[in-house]
Amino acid sequence: MANKKLKKAGFLNIPVPQGIDLVQAIKDLKKEKNAIILAHYYQDSEIQDVADFVGDSLALAQWATQTDADVIVLCGVHFMGETAKILSPEKRVFVPDLNAGCSLADSCPADEMDKFIKLYPGHTVISYVNTTAAVKTLTDVVVTSTNARQIVESFPLETKLIFGPDENLGNYINSLTGRNMVLWKGACHVHEQFSLEKILALKQEHPDAQVLAHPECKTVILKIADYIGSTSALLKFSTHSPTKKFIVATESGILHKMQLINPDKIFIPAPPNDSTCACNECNFMRLNTLEKLYNCLKYEVPEIFISEEVQRKAVKPILRMLEISGKLGL
Ligand code: 13P
Ligand code: SF4
Repeated sequence: MANKKLKKAGFLNIPVPQGIDLVQAIKDLKKEKNAIILAHYYQDSEIQDVADFVGDSLALAQWATQTDADVIVLCGVHFMGETAKILSPEKRVFVPDLNAGCSLADSCPADEMDKFIKLYPGHTVISYVNTTAAVKTLTDVVVTSTNARQIVESFPLETKLIFGPDENLGNYINSLTGRNMVLWKGACHVHEQFSLEKILALKQEHPDAQVLAHPECKTVILKIADYIGSTSALLKFSTHSPTKKFIVATESGILHKMQLINPDKIFIPAPPNDSTCACNECNFMRLNTLEKLYNCLKYEVPEIFISEEVQRKAVKPILRMLEISGKLGL
């Protein structure tokens, strides 16, 4: 019964003990359970600060293969937990709130992707990591935004490729590599939201600022960006660039790390079209909270489960990605 309720809610909805030092309690539980907390850059800053490792989706996948912890708590979205479980089926993997989905993964149901692939016989299937485990079983090689170009370029020019589900990333990689990959038409609801007009107005106000953009943004935004890259690439660029001010067109959680590493620089979140919402925050990513993280560690729910058959098939394209990008080891 409790399990059924939990499944429906997606997380254990009970109050944490009053007056508790949550951060310390999480650290104690981590030790007690030989657990590791991996967090994506889009998590709330308090979760990033309590994590053992904060990284992009590629680095989180790598960590899952490297850690000798018995338990992985993946503070990110569901597909990230699935990827960790697929890579480390012997470990227990938890995501503090199972409702933490992803609009890209949701845009690409496995049965529809299967039909789409059948329309293009002889094509190699490249899937963005932002997909369900079921879609990964239909995939030849997975990519993240960090290694997409490298992996696409590892195929001879004449290889026919399908790329999904992010159309913006696919268009961007096509433009960089001169390929003509067949694209699934999916998009991230956060990265689609950035307003060209508002970014241009900000640039006028701050002529000394550089625009940084994630490749999930629309082409019009990428065209005016000074630098385009994955979350970790944007972080690196902002750290090594002599520029002191940046307008950042990706989920605003990344600003926490940028500011921490570069206290002397100014980071301005790029505004979304709708100024009445916090649309540059991923509502899925932000479902994870310190309270849910505490309950997750304490009661060991909610857990990610993958059938043996899906794990066996889905691990192949992920390992292929890690091999091509030379990232099987850290
Ligand atoms: P990264 O691969 O840059 O971490 O991006 C993940 C993601 O979900 C972007 O929206
Ligand atoms: Fe998915 Fe977009 Fe959220 Fe990233 S920011 S997890 S792509 S919905």
